[in-house]
Amino acid sequence: MSRQALLEYFRERAPLVAPSMLQCDFGNLQREVTALEDAGAHVLHLDVMDGHFVPNLTYGPVVIERLRDLTLLPFDAHLMITDPAPYLDEYVSAGCQALTIHIEAVPDPRSQLSRIREHGCLAGISLNPDTPVSRIAPFLEMVDLALVMSVQPGFGGQSFQPECAKKVTELRRLKPDLLLSIDGGIGRETIGVAAAAGADMFVAGSAIFQASDYRSAMSQLRERAVAARAEVARVLH
Ligand code: DX5
Ligand code: ZN
Repeated sequence: MSRQALLEYFRERAPLVAPSMLQCDFGNLQREVTALEDAGAHVLHLDVMDGHFVPNLTYGPVVIERLRDLTLLPFDAHLMITDPAPYLDEYVSAGCQALTIHIEAVPDPRSQLSRIREHGCLAGISLNPDTPVSRIAPFLEMVDLALVMSVQPGFGGQSFQPECAKKVTELRRLKPDLLLSIDGGIGRETIGVAAAAGADMFVAGSAIFQASDYRSAMSQLRERAVAARAEVARVLH
């Protein structure tokens, strides 16, 4: 799929719940991927951590490559790593379709964003809860996707920080066609705030993997996002 086609794919399916594979059963990837496909997932969010940019370590291209053999779903890789430049090509070869780097790790992300786009992938930039939108504003022309962190990156299961949702609205104003994703603490009680702020994609780990029924967890999240959007539209008209 081309970069434009993938952007369309995501936009058409918004509000889109993106399962974060951080808390899946890694001993049973095939079963987990099949369960997520059956539950209606349209994308998998892959949290890559290096034990340096964040105090946690996950997986890299080798695991992603194996995961690629199990599904045709697009992979949205969230690179929480200090120095992504030497590894970008590897993540593309491993089968990722969207690569998001952190502005706190890469203060001038221009060359890396262009490199990601040259590969035909969506170029994403992410910002931590204490990083203002002004830090990424100069680079928005080179970005397809902005990932607003609503928790400090590194671990699943943290509490949603509602004030971060304002950044989604701010980014929407700056670049109306930007794909906006929000990540951290998204659950039934919090997705409404993020959806009302204008997010397209909602990354969810605990809210899916701690549920016994992935399908019902994902559809409840989506329904709440749809309802929150409808409420905003109703108030505005
Ligand atoms: C945190 C990761 C998230 C995380 C979300 O650093 O970027 O994707 O897995 O997990 P929950 O939904 O449990 O906050
Ligand atoms: Zn993430």
